[in-house]
Amino acid sequence: MERAAISPSLSQNYLLCPSRAFTTSLHSFSSTRNLSPSSSSIKLQHSSSSSSSSVSSKFINGGNSLTQCNAVLSNSSSRDVSELADIDWDNIGFGLKQTDYMYVMKCDLDGEFSNGGLQRFGNIEVSPSAGVLNYGQGLFEGMKAYRKEDGKNILLFRPEENAIRMRNGAERMCMPAPTVEQFVEAVKATVLANKRWVLNDILLFPGYAKETTKNYVLLMMSCFQIPPAGKGSLYIRPLLMGTGAILGLAPAPEYTFLVYVSPVGNYFKEGVAINLIVESEFHRATPGGTGGVKTIGNYAAVLKAQSIAKAKGYSDVLYLDCVYKRYLEEVSSCNIFIVKDNVISTPEIKGTILPGITRKSIMDVAISQGLQVEERNVTVDELLEADEVFCTGTAVVVSPVGSITYKDKRVSYGEGSFGPISKQLYTVLTSLQMGLSEDKMKWTVNLS
Ligand code: COI
Repeated sequence: MERAAISPSLSQNYLLCPSRAFTTSLHSFSSTRNLSPSSSSIKLQHSSSSSSSSVSSKFINGGNSLTQCNAVLSNSSSRDVSELADIDWDNIGFGLKQTDYMYVMKCDLDGEFSNGGLQRFGNIEVSPSAGVLNYGQGLFEGMKAYRKEDGKNILLFRPEENAIRMRNGAERMCMPAPTVEQFVEAVKATVLANKRWVLNDILLFPGYAKETTKNYVLLMMSCFQIPPAGKGSLYIRPLLMGTGAILGLAPAPEYTFLVYVSPVGNYFKEGVAINLIVESEFHRATPGGTGGVKTIGNYAAVLKAQSIAKAKGYSDVLYLDCVYKRYLEEVSSCNIFIVKDNVISTPEIKGTILPGITRKSIMDVAISQGLQVEERNVTVDELLEADEVFCTGTAVVVSPVGSITYKDKRVSYGEGSFGPISKQLYTVLTSLQMGLSEDKMKWTVNLS
């Protein structure tokens, strides 16, 4: 766990509230949308792997509120999870930063997931013969939670869409999946249990909480504002894995659904515009294959082309269809759009392209802005002639493409930043995701 440091950057706008540091319930929450089954039960479990820590907890009582949940590490040098997480939001990038809790729920042959609960973040134990390890029976999702400017609320973006996509992928991969409600509840519980990693809040160090003048000054200095508006988010990674042991080729006899989170910044190190290379030898997906679902194997399959491209200085790889080697498919980590004469086009979903939730949302945002959107076959020649090119995805949000290289020809777009249309779409989408504008689409779910 990161060690917090004393910061002189106390925001004058915040009032000190010493009692909050110690008594704030980590997990009380409510949703502005009724996605919470009243019968669901989320509990904080003792983790067998965290032998050095003792977790004291009162479990939630059904419904969507954890009435009390204080997890305290017994080792005095360890940190109370109500402490502020110390994050350098300017330099965080996109990598795993271990947080406090993860959510785990299992399902055996009956196909029903049950008894899910929070436990301390840590390694999990699986059989060497687990279906996910031997035959790649695994799916994942990517989502983000943003804090609102008020510093008190956290917004999820269309979580039920991820739940549905996981269910569709599970059907293709012969796996049972959590219900939409179970999925959304698990995500909410995990985000709230780790809210110190995303909330802009006043949190205090217990050691300084004494009412002496000296300690009061230290107390003042130990207040942080995280993350700065517009920087960073809490990335949410739901996993579905065949964890039961199986040797002959068949679906696993047991499945695990797990949700963990990590604070993240920009996905691409480049900052704004990215440089892509079009790949015509390696392919990401084939008709009839699994390219249209978020199975782990799709991501392993692109690592070779991606590492060759990165070694040559490109940000990522844009794949072509494997039949004609002429039509755009997607980038290793995101979907692709082109803009020509104010018309926005993106490859249509036909089994070889991931149905991105940001992709779908951007199309709806564009239509709401009066722009023309086309889902169709887009040729590599059109790409090279485009006015703007941009990528969409949960991790990349909306990333403008600064250049495309295809068969040794390099074409540049814009001036290393957003073009006018991609900027407009980015601004409308992210304002909505961060709660800066009215959510007329009813896409966000508020956790407070
Ligand atoms: C996401 O955008 O959430 C993804 O799952 C892509 C992944 C390669 C980071």
